[in-house]
Amino acid sequence: MAKKLIVANWKMNGSIAKIEHDLSVYKTNALTNSPNVVFALPMPYLYQTIDLGAGFGVACQDISQFCGFGAYTGEISAAMLLEFNVKYTLVGHSERRAAIGEDNSLLAKKLENLISVGITPILCIGEPRSIRDSGKYQGFLIDQLSLLTSLNVEVLELVIAYEPIWAIGTGKTPTIEEITEIVNLIHSFVQKTSAHAKILVLYGGSVTGKNIADILHIPEIAGVLVGGASLKVDEFTAICTEA
Ligand code: 13P
Repeated sequence: MAKKLIVANWKMNGSIAKIEHDLSVYKTNALTNSPNVVFALPMPYLYQTIDLGAGFGVACQDISQFCGFGAYTGEISAAMLLEFNVKYTLVGHSERRAAIGEDNSLLAKKLENLISVGITPILCIGEPRSIRDSGKYQGFLIDQLSLLTSLNVEVLELVIAYEPIWAIGTGKTPTIEEITEIVNLIHSFVQKTSAHAKILVLYGGSVTGKNIADILHIPEIAGVLVGGASLKVDEFTAICTEA
Protein backbone atom coordinates (compact mmCIF):
# COMPACT_ATOMS: atom_id res chain seq x y z
CA MET A 1 0.00 0.00 0.00
CA ALA A 2 1.33 3.47 -0.88
CA LYS A 3 2.41 5.58 2.06
CA LYS A 4 0.05 8.39 2.96
CA LEU A 5 0.98 11.90 1.93
CA ILE A 6 1.55 14.24 4.89
CA VAL A 7 1.85 17.89 3.92
CA ALA A 8 2.94 20.44 6.52
CA ASN A 9 1.59 23.91 5.75
CA TRP A 10 3.54 26.31 7.96
CA LYS A 11 1.62 29.29 6.52
CA MET A 12 3.38 32.58 7.44
CA ASN A 13 5.35 31.04 10.30
CA GLY A 14 8.93 29.94 10.92
CA SER A 15 12.44 31.35 10.96
CA ILE A 16 15.90 30.18 9.93
CA ALA A 17 16.52 29.00 13.49
CA LYS A 18 13.22 27.10 13.79
CA ILE A 19 13.64 25.33 10.47
CA GLU A 20 17.19 24.35 11.32
CA HIS A 21 16.04 23.01 14.68
CA ASP A 22 12.89 21.18 13.54
CA LEU A 23 14.37 19.58 10.45
CA SER A 24 17.43 18.43 12.35
CA VAL A 25 15.14 16.67 14.83
CA TYR A 26 13.19 15.05 11.99
CA LYS A 27 16.47 13.93 10.44
CA THR A 28 17.47 12.08 13.58
CA ASN A 29 14.14 10.39 14.13
CA ALA A 30 12.31 7.91 11.96
CA LEU A 31 11.21 10.49 9.40
CA THR A 32 14.47 10.65 7.44
CA ASN A 33 14.11 9.77 3.76
CA SER A 34 10.35 10.14 3.72
CA PRO A 35 9.41 11.77 0.41
CA ASN A 36 5.77 11.37 1.44
CA VAL A 37 6.40 13.93 4.21
CA VAL A 38 6.26 17.30 2.50
CA PHE A 39 7.08 20.73 3.93
CA ALA A 40 5.35 23.82 2.54
CA LEU A 41 7.39 26.53 4.23
CA PRO A 42 7.32 30.26 3.43
CA MET A 43 9.11 31.03 0.17
CA PRO A 44 12.32 32.65 1.55
CA TYR A 45 13.14 29.40 3.34
CA LEU A 46 12.87 27.19 0.28
CA TYR A 47 16.59 26.77 -0.20
CA GLN A 48 17.17 26.05 3.48
CA THR A 49 14.48 23.37 3.42
CA ILE A 50 16.14 21.57 0.55
CA ASP A 51 19.59 21.92 2.07
CA LEU A 52 18.51 20.42 5.37
CA GLY A 53 15.77 18.28 3.98
CA ALA A 54 17.15 14.78 4.39
CA GLY A 55 14.86 13.42 1.71
CA PHE A 56 11.65 15.18 2.63
CA GLY A 57 9.39 16.53 -0.09
CA VAL A 58 9.34 20.27 -0.72
CA ALA A 59 6.21 22.27 -1.53
CA CYS A 60 5.26 25.91 -1.98
CA GLN A 61 2.24 27.64 -0.52
CA ASP A 62 1.38 29.55 -3.68
CA ILE A 63 2.46 30.33 -7.21
CA SER A 64 2.07 33.14 -9.70
CA GLN A 65 -0.75 33.16 -12.24
CA PHE A 66 1.92 34.26 -14.77
CA CYS A 67 4.19 31.69 -16.36
CA GLY A 68 7.87 31.62 -17.22
CA PHE A 69 9.88 34.80 -16.66
CA GLY A 70 9.15 38.48 -17.20
CA ALA A 71 8.08 41.85 -15.91
CA TYR A 72 5.84 40.75 -13.03
CA THR A 73 7.29 42.39 -9.92
CA GLY A 74 6.94 40.30 -6.79
CA GLU A 75 5.75 37.15 -8.59
CA ILE A 76 7.34 33.69 -8.48
CA SER A 77 6.69 31.34 -11.36
CA ALA A 78 6.28 27.59 -11.55
CA ALA A 79 9.37 27.42 -13.78
CA MET A 80 11.46 28.92 -10.96
CA LEU A 81 10.19 26.42 -8.43
CA LEU A 82 11.34 23.56 -10.65
CA GLU A 83 14.96 24.59 -10.03
CA PHE A 84 14.38 23.91 -6.34
CA ASN A 85 12.96 20.46 -6.96
CA VAL A 86 9.57 21.54 -5.65
CA LYS A 87 7.15 18.64 -6.06
CA TYR A 88 3.86 20.20 -4.94
CA THR A 89 2.29 23.65 -4.62
CA LEU A 90 -0.85 24.65 -2.75
CA VAL A 91 -3.44 26.43 -4.86
CA GLY A 92 -6.56 28.19 -3.60
CA HIS A 93 -6.09 27.79 0.13
CA SER A 94 -9.17 29.30 1.82
CA GLU A 95 -7.00 31.89 3.54
CA ARG A 96 -5.91 33.18 0.12
CA ARG A 97 -9.41 32.95 -1.34
CA ALA A 98 -10.70 35.06 1.58
CA ALA A 99 -7.84 37.52 2.08
CA ILE A 100 -6.76 38.02 -1.53
CA GLY A 101 -9.99 37.25 -3.35
CA GLU A 102 -8.65 34.39 -5.45
CA ASP A 103 -11.38 33.02 -7.69
CA ASN A 104 -11.79 30.06 -10.04
CA SER A 105 -10.48 31.82 -13.15
CA LEU A 106 -7.28 32.92 -11.38
CA LEU A 107 -6.82 29.50 -9.81
CA ALA A 108 -7.26 27.81 -13.19
CA LYS A 109 -4.23 29.75 -14.51
CA LYS A 110 -2.15 28.69 -11.53
CA LEU A 111 -3.14 25.04 -12.01
CA GLU A 112 -2.29 25.17 -15.71
CA ASN A 113 1.12 26.73 -15.00
CA LEU A 114 2.03 24.10 -12.45
CA ILE A 115 0.80 21.15 -14.49
CA SER A 116 2.64 22.41 -17.58
CA VAL A 117 6.01 22.25 -15.78
CA GLY A 118 5.29 18.98 -13.96
CA ILE A 119 4.67 20.28 -10.42
CA THR A 120 1.66 18.66 -8.77
CA PRO A 121 -0.92 21.19 -7.57
CA ILE A 122 -2.69 20.66 -4.27
CA LEU A 123 -6.02 22.37 -4.91
CA CYS A 124 -7.71 23.33 -1.64
CA ILE A 125 -11.49 23.42 -1.40
CA GLY A 126 -13.78 23.86 1.58
CA GLU A 127 -16.99 25.46 2.73
CA PRO A 128 -17.60 28.04 5.49
CA ARG A 129 -19.74 27.15 8.50
CA SER A 130 -22.78 29.05 7.19
CA ILE A 131 -22.84 26.99 3.99
CA ARG A 132 -22.41 23.74 5.93
CA ASP A 133 -25.34 24.71 8.18
CA SER A 134 -27.51 25.65 5.20
CA GLY A 135 -27.09 22.11 3.84
CA LYS A 136 -25.89 23.47 0.50
CA TYR A 137 -22.25 22.49 0.95
CA GLN A 138 -22.18 19.88 -1.83
CA GLY A 139 -23.13 22.48 -4.46
CA PHE A 140 -20.61 24.93 -3.01
CA LEU A 141 -17.79 22.38 -3.26
CA ILE A 142 -18.81 21.28 -6.76
CA ASP A 143 -18.64 24.93 -7.81
CA GLN A 144 -15.06 25.12 -6.49
CA LEU A 145 -14.21 21.88 -8.30
CA SER A 146 -15.80 23.01 -11.55
CA LEU A 147 -12.66 24.90 -12.59
CA LEU A 148 -11.09 21.52 -13.32
CA THR A 149 -13.38 21.12 -16.32
CA SER A 150 -12.06 24.32 -17.92
CA LEU A 151 -8.34 23.53 -17.71
CA ASN A 152 -6.28 23.51 -20.86
CA VAL A 153 -3.91 20.64 -19.99
CA GLU A 154 -2.98 17.39 -21.68
CA VAL A 155 -2.99 15.25 -18.57
CA LEU A 156 -4.90 16.15 -15.43
CA GLU A 157 -3.00 14.93 -12.40
CA LEU A 158 -3.41 16.67 -9.08
CA VAL A 159 -4.08 16.46 -5.37
CA ILE A 160 -7.31 17.87 -3.96
CA ALA A 161 -7.41 18.82 -0.28
CA TYR A 162 -10.79 19.08 1.42
CA GLU A 163 -10.37 21.69 4.14
CA PRO A 164 -13.67 22.86 5.63
CA ILE A 165 -13.04 26.47 6.69
CA TRP A 166 -14.78 25.94 10.01
CA ALA A 167 -12.29 23.20 10.89
CA ILE A 168 -9.15 25.24 10.17
CA GLY A 169 -7.38 26.27 13.35
CA THR A 170 -10.51 25.70 15.45
CA GLY A 171 -9.90 22.30 17.00
CA LYS A 172 -13.23 21.18 15.46
CA THR A 173 -13.19 18.43 12.88
CA PRO A 174 -15.98 16.93 10.78
CA THR A 175 -17.04 13.41 11.68
CA ILE A 176 -15.44 10.54 9.80
CA GLU A 177 -18.78 10.11 7.95
CA GLU A 178 -18.78 13.79 6.93
CA ILE A 179 -15.22 13.57 5.60
CA THR A 180 -16.04 10.32 3.79
CA GLU A 181 -19.05 11.94 2.11
CA ILE A 182 -16.87 14.71 0.66
CA VAL A 183 -14.03 12.41 -0.35
CA ASN A 184 -16.58 10.37 -2.32
CA LEU A 185 -18.13 13.52 -3.78
CA ILE A 186 -14.72 14.67 -5.08
CA HIS A 187 -13.91 11.29 -6.59
CA SER A 188 -17.29 10.97 -8.28
CA PHE A 189 -17.17 14.53 -9.66
CA VAL A 190 -13.73 13.97 -11.19
CA GLN A 191 -14.74 10.54 -12.51
CA LYS A 192 -17.77 12.04 -14.24
CA THR A 193 -16.10 15.13 -15.67
CA SER A 194 -12.54 13.98 -16.45
CA ALA A 195 -12.51 10.21 -16.55
CA HIS A 196 -8.76 10.02 -17.29
CA ALA A 197 -7.71 12.34 -14.48
CA LYS A 198 -5.52 11.01 -11.71
CA ILE A 199 -6.29 12.49 -8.32
CA LEU A 200 -5.42 11.99 -4.69
CA VAL A 201 -7.69 13.40 -1.99
CA LEU A 202 -6.38 14.79 1.30
CA TYR A 203 -8.19 16.05 4.38
CA GLY A 204 -7.10 19.19 6.26
CA GLY A 205 -8.42 21.10 9.27
CA SER A 206 -7.37 20.60 12.91
CA VAL A 207 -5.48 17.37 12.19
CA THR A 208 -3.62 16.26 15.33
CA GLY A 209 -1.69 13.31 16.70
CA LYS A 210 -4.95 12.18 18.30
CA ASN A 211 -7.29 12.13 15.29
CA ILE A 212 -4.79 11.19 12.57
CA ALA A 213 -5.28 7.42 12.82
CA ASP A 214 -9.06 7.63 12.33
CA ILE A 215 -8.69 10.05 9.42
CA LEU A 216 -6.12 7.93 7.62
CA HIS A 217 -8.41 4.90 7.91
CA ILE A 218 -11.03 6.54 5.70
CA PRO A 219 -11.15 4.60 2.41
CA GLU A 220 -9.84 6.64 -0.53
CA ILE A 221 -8.09 9.19 1.69
CA ALA A 222 -4.53 9.66 0.46
CA GLY A 223 -3.22 11.75 3.33
CA VAL A 224 -3.58 15.00 5.23
CA LEU A 225 -2.73 18.69 5.06
CA VAL A 226 -1.59 19.88 8.47
CA GLY A 227 -1.41 23.46 9.71
CA GLY A 228 -0.85 24.26 13.40
CA ALA A 229 0.22 20.77 14.44
CA SER A 230 3.02 20.78 11.86
CA LEU A 231 4.74 23.55 13.83
CA LYS A 232 5.09 21.29 16.88
CA VAL A 233 7.87 18.74 16.47
CA ASP A 234 6.44 16.02 18.74
CA GLU A 235 2.93 16.32 17.39
CA PHE A 236 4.05 16.31 13.77
CA THR A 237 6.29 13.31 14.38
CA ALA A 238 3.27 11.47 15.80
CA ILE A 239 1.22 12.37 12.73
CA CYS A 240 3.94 11.22 10.31
CA THR A 241 4.51 8.00 12.18
CA GLU A 242 0.88 7.02 11.49
CA ALA A 243 1.48 7.36 7.75
P1 13P B 1 -4.90 23.62 10.96
O1 13P B 1 -4.29 22.24 10.90
O2 13P B 1 -4.14 24.57 11.85
O3 13P B 1 -6.35 23.57 11.28
O4 13P B 1 -4.77 24.26 9.50
C1 13P B 1 -5.20 23.51 8.42
C2 13P B 1 -4.75 24.19 7.19
O5 13P B 1 -5.20 25.28 6.87
C3 13P B 1 -3.71 23.52 6.39
O6 13P B 1 -3.61 24.07 5.13
